[in-house]
Amino acid sequence: MIVCQCKAISASTVYDAVDTGASSLGQVCRSTGAGTDCGCCVFALKDLVCDYQNRLAHLPSAGLVLLLEANNEAGFSASRRAS
Ligand code: FES
Repeated sequence: MIVCQCKAISASTVYDAVDTGASSLGQVCRSTGAGTDCGCCVFALKDLVCDYQNRLAHLPSAGLVLLLEANNEAGFSASRRAS
């Protein structure tokens, strides 16, 4: 999905910018070029960046994921032993 028509910047390019360290709308605009021409996409960009940052903030940490995977593996092994 293209979010900035002037610069042909897609949502995935915006997500990549956030993933590689852009933590504000200004940083996303500077690193991608989005929003730097007519500016009519800036509010959509702001919503996109905020929504993506919120989704990232609610993901479990890498340590928690490893713990859950370990617990799943242990549970799988225990049920295999019981049967
Ligand atoms: S549509 Fe993004 S700067 Fe024009």
